[in-house]
Amino acid sequence: MRLAIGKRQTKGEELRERIMSKPIHTGELGIVEAVAKLLSGIEPKSDAEMRGYNFRTYIAPKLEMFGFEERYRKDGLCDGEDERCELQRQKLAKLTNVIQGNGAIVALVGPRGTGKTYIASQFVIDRLWSEHGTARCTWSHYAKLTTLVGRLKAFYGDMGTIETEKLEQYRTFLTKKLHLLIIDEIHEVSEDSNHKDRILTDLLDTRYAAKKDTILISNQSAEEFSRTTNPSIISRLNEHGGIIPCAWQSFRDKPAI
Ligand SMILES: Nc1ncnc2c1ncn2[C@@H]1O[C@H](COP(=O)(O)OP(=O)(O)O)[C@@H](O)[C@H]1O
Ligand SMILES: [Mg+2]
Repeated sequence: MRLAIGKRQTKGEELRERIMSKPIHTGELGIVEAVAKLLSGIEPKSDAEMRGYNFRTYIAPKLEMFGFEERYRKDGLCDGEDERCELQRQKLAKLTNVIQGNGAIVALVGPRGTGKTYIASQFVIDRLWSEHGTARCTWSHYAKLTTLVGRLKAFYGDMGTIETEKLEQYRTFLTKKLHLLIIDEIHEVSEDSNHKDRILTDLLDTRYAAKKDTILISNQSAEEFSRTTNPSIISRLNEHGGIIPCAWQSFRDKPAI
């Protein structure tokens, strides 16, 4: 409790009195020298630390927004040692060659667990790194085919729902706005398989016409994928894009070293 003795002081006066009653100790250094000394004591951040910081604050939040699960929000393929990592690097280089912003359709196919989704996420990460610090921004979206079908089937099946306008906007977003659409688990057959074929074909045809790139991912072999996918998709893909087979031991059975 503050006792009011004599004249009442304001906070400012109190502070001033406290400061003036003691000599101010400046040390042997002037202010400029003192700040310089302080700064010289701070370790400069290494490139790796800066990269980690930028990844956490800039790249990872975008990957999350694009729809990638946490395990795909990691910076970089493993390097060396493991033969599978070298193969992944080759496939990523191929993907980078083909996807140039001109409406390519590329399919990553092969057994489960080889890192197809991981390669696709690394492709997006590479792109984000190259844009880091500039105003341009890549809009990508990652989704499983069953998710897209679940959301869109009302639009394709029955044009009269109250959701039509919203779904139409969603279709426009998927087909015309996004720079890159990644559709995963193409092999999953659901009870919506009729819708699935129609929706996939429409999305790919429209994106192709709008010159927007698409990556498809399937756990099928290249032959199986070619046989079970709509011929119009396969012909577009042969015309501009291609199939990239990813066949090596699964990372789920044996993690990278
Ligand atoms: N180069 C890699 N380094 C570390 N982990 C990896 C690598 N490639 C894949 N993985 C991990 O292995 C698991 C399987 O990869 P995923 O991309 O899901 O395979 P696929 O899509 O082919 O089924 C995932 O948990 C993924 O994070
Ligand atoms: Mg996958």
